[in-house]
Amino acid sequence: MRISLNTTNKIKLSLDVITFVSTLVLLSPPITGIPIHEWLGLAVIIPLLVHLLINWGWLSSTTRRFFGRLPGQTRINYLLNWALFILMTAEGFTGVMISKVVLPMFGLSASHVYIYKYLHIILADSLLIVFGLHLAMHWRWILTVIKKNILAPFFGQPKSVYHASATTHSSINAE
Ligand code: HEM
Repeated sequence: MRISLNTTNKIKLSLDVITFVSTLVLLSPPITGIPIHEWLGLAVIIPLLVHLLINWGWLSSTTRRFFGRLPGQTRINYLLNWALFILMTAEGFTGVMISKVVLPMFGLSASHVYIYKYLHIILADSLLIVFGLHLAMHWRWILTVIKKNILAPFFGQPKSVYHASATTHSSINAE
């Protein structure tokens, strides 16, 4: 199976790039300042949800097979995906709880409970680790897409093509 940039893959790749860049920017609020940080933190939910919907087939079939016969790597990948989703959601929630811009716009005031700020910081650190692992699990897919679709038009086709295995979402991405 060869990875080609069909429409689904194009949408997927664009969403991944948007989510990736947004998360990197979000992890360092001084880059943008708090107002953009807060709005971006809320907006990133959209590519995240679409990403989830596009990969729904893989997600539901892996859920069904989770306690059955499944390669160890797929199991780790599955757990990492859920960890990432839960962390992003919790990070967004704690962010809203300490919001200095978005909440006041709606006439609400942020929670002064220190725990939310503390959690927001701890969750961001955990997010960075899980996000890195998530990227590491998909590095072959990312490299192949970059080689085949971005570098190949300039430097020719790469010699090796990544063959999809059941360990990643590749069965959906590849055709
Ligand atoms: C899911 C994406 C998000 C990530 C990865 C993220 C990450 C971070 C990080 C790393 C910090 C700096 C913490 C520190 O002081 O070391 C921070 C601060 C902050 N974040 Fe977020 N955040 C996200 C979403 C949000 C949302 C949705 C809001 C509000 C609507 C928000 C509001 C804030 C505020 C107000 C601060 C400043 C806290 C302070 O210094 O008093 N964040 N965020």
